[in-house]
Amino acid sequence: MKRAVVVLAAGKGTRMNSPRAKVLHPLLGRPMLGHLLESLAALRADLTLVVVGHQREAVGAVAEAAGARVVIQEPQLGTGHALAACRGALSGLGSCEVLLVAGDVPLLPVEAVAGYWKEFSAARSPAGLVVLELDDPAGYGRVVRDHRGRVRAVVEQRDASEEERAIREVNSGVYLFRSPGIFEVLEQLGNANAQGEYYLPDVFALLLKEGTPALSWRAQAPARWLGINSQAELARANEQLRTQVIAELMASGVTILMPETVWVEPSVRVAPGCTLHPFARLCGATALEPGVEVGAYSCLTDAALGEGTRVKEHCVLEGTKAGPRCVLGPFCRTRPGTELAEQVHLGNFVETKKARLGKGVKANHLSYLGDATVGGGSNIGAGTITCNYDGARKHPTVLGEGVFIGSDTQLVAPVTVGDGAYVGAGTTVTKDVPAGALAISRAPQKNIEGWVARKAPRK
Ligand code: UD1
Ligand code: CA
Repeated sequence: MKRAVVVLAAGKGTRMNSPRAKVLHPLLGRPMLGHLLESLAALRADLTLVVVGHQREAVGAVAEAAGARVVIQEPQLGTGHALAACRGALSGLGSCEVLLVAGDVPLLPVEAVAGYWKEFSAARSPAGLVVLELDDPAGYGRVVRDHRGRVRAVVEQRDASEEERAIREVNSGVYLFRSPGIFEVLEQLGNANAQGEYYLPDVFALLLKEGTPALSWRAQAPARWLGINSQAELARANEQLRTQVIAELMASGVTILMPETVWVEPSVRVAPGCTLHPFARLCGATALEPGVEVGAYSCLTDAALGEGTRVKEHCVLEGTKAGPRCVLGPFCRTRPGTELAEQVHLGNFVETKKARLGKGVKANHLSYLGDATVGGGSNIGAGTITCNYDGARKHPTVLGEGVFIGSDTQLVAPVTVGDGAYVGAGTTVTKDVPAGALAISRAPQKNIEGWVARKAPRK
């Protein structure tokens, strides 16, 4: 039997109070829809559909990036209407089983879903739903059962009587159906309810009337099934996932000091033997080889650091490759296109951008190296600036091997300094410097004896 997954993500998510569609809010750096689709991939369905409506381009882009197919629901007339919109896309599979979930359950326990799905495949029921027992069921659809304990109906909060509102068993919004049968049932849905919507859970009452009641499974850990509806719930989910990632890293042999303060996104790779200091933040495609140390308050995004490289406190590294055995910071900033060979030292207040620095280069203080290539063994003095921008275009600076750049040098690009050349402190380099030469541009110094006594303003 073919299997399909349908994710409903056409709604706006009003309770987030945000201009951004709910499913696009990030969980540890990644849209919650992206997380969900990645974990659903473990089910190996034949087809995954994502129903989009609100902000459909942005939501659709996340869906497609995860390999799902997009179904447009326009206008959005309710969850029943949303599934009905998938009929055409699902028809290609012929008879199939369909798992339906909302897009706002990024921490969905997919293993439990797989178990329920197995039972569902073995049973003859046309449908199944996951239910939860809540202390506070407010806002959710209540599960009403008949005298035999079968699901008689799901009643939405706004349509529920006083008596029904007291029921603590709720619909999780996770269902299994058989296609195309379910579409016949959907055709019978009405919208005579408090919200004027075609409610998907109304199919359960219809199914019971036809004598084919749904299966139901009662799950644990309600928060993971019910998903995220508010900023506070988003923050809690972030924290839950963060704690999980940190625990896994520690178990794998990463030393983490004050783990409650360290942020590591699931996309990051950290080898055993690395050390993360308090408030370190590792994002995106960052990858750390063994023995890398990340100092307190340093933020790394898409940074690949080789063995034994040490990032001291308060560094910001982005789109950077470095190491092995580099020493960076404190307070250095490497921007995209930075490539540091082994044993490079960048000190405080050094900024790099599109800069390739060879083995053992040292730039220890107060510098900007942009669109620059620096040969191995070169030393960049304090206050060196590549003047790479002429107001319209960027130009390259190329320094050879073993070059010595004195402090407070400006390199006005495009410019080249040959191997082993020296540049005197305070020089503005506007012409290429040949290998082995000394370049110096400096007004000669003059000392005026006794000037202070004669001319200095009196205090
Ligand atoms: C729904 C269930 C409720 C259940 C709860 C669990 C209905 C009518 N109610 O309520 O029984 O307890 O989930 O969380 O289904 N969507 C669309 N198109 C639409 C409408 C909604 O794609 O036309 C999507 C939304 O983006 C959302 C999901 O469907 O991801 C759920 O819709 P929502 O309106 O939020 O239903 P709930 O009030 O959460
Ligand atoms: Ca919801």
